[in-house]
Amino acid sequence: MTAAAPAQQAQEQTMAPLPLPSPARSTLFLTLEGIDGAGKSSHIEALEALFRAQGRAVVRTREPGGTPLAETLRHLVLEQTMDALTESLLIFAARREHIQQVIAPALARGAVVICDRFTDATFAYQGAGRGFDTAVLRQLERWVQARSEADVNGPRAGEAEESALLQPDLTLWFDLAPEAAAARLAGTRVPDRFEAQPVEFFRRVSAGYAARAAQTRRFARIDAGQPRDVVWAQIEATLRARGLIDCAE
Ligand code: TYD
Repeated sequence: MTAAAPAQQAQEQTMAPLPLPSPARSTLFLTLEGIDGAGKSSHIEALEALFRAQGRAVVRTREPGGTPLAETLRHLVLEQTMDALTESLLIFAARREHIQQVIAPALARGAVVICDRFTDATFAYQGAGRGFDTAVLRQLERWVQARSEADVNGPRAGEAEESALLQPDLTLWFDLAPEAAAARLAGTRVPDRFEAQPVEFFRRVSAGYAARAAQTRRFARIDAGQPRDVVWAQIEATLRARGLIDCAE
C-alpha cells in the first residue's frame, strides 16, 4: 500500500468545508437545465463569450462530469443499466468531486461558473422521471452541497435553508414540449440511457422542472420552442433584468 500525500489524506478523511467566497464577493453560479433536445448546450459557448466580454473569468463545465473521476462516473451512468438509487448515488458522488475540485475553487476565485446541468436535473430526471424518493435526493443534496460541516445536518438557527447549501444563483430552464424535443433529437446520434426513454418519461421530467421553477426565484423559464436567435434574446434579456450583465447594448 502506498502512503497518500498529506493533502490527499485530509481530503479523503474529512468532510472539509468547501472553499467558498464570502457572500459579499460578487460571484455567479449559472446553470442550464431542460429535457434532452431542448437546445441548452447550443447556447453555452455564447454565454461564456458574453461574460468574457464583460471582463469576467469564466469556467464552463457540465454534470455529471467536469473532472476525470466525475467524467468516468458520467460514462457509467449514461451507459450501464442500474437501479435508481445506484444512479443517484453515482450522480451525487460525481457532483461532490466536481464541486470540490472545480466549482467551489472557481467561485472562490471570483470566476463565473457556467454549468450544463446540476442538482435540478437530479430532481427532474431521478425524482420526477424515474419516480425515485425525493427525500433521499434531498438528503444526498445536503451531504454533497453543504457549505460547511455544520450545515450537513440542517441549517443553523436563523439560517435560511438555501444559504446552508451551495446552489446556483440563476438557472436557465429551457422549456420545450417533449414531442418537439424528441423530434429534434431523432436520428441525430446514438441515444444514451436517458435519450432512449419514451416521451412519457420526458413529460414527467418536464413536470419536475416546472415544479421546481414554481418553488424558486432562481429559475428563469426560457421558451426553447422559439428560433435560436429569439431564444438567445430571451437569455440576454434575463441576464440584464437580473443585473448580471451591463445594460448597455
Ligand atoms: P446532457 O447534459 O444532455 O449532455 P449531452 O448533451 O451530451 O447528452 O446529458 C446528460 C444526461 O444525464 C441527460 O440525459 C440527463 C442526465 N442527468 C440525470 O439524469 N441526472 C442528473 O443529475 C444530471 C446532471 C444529468
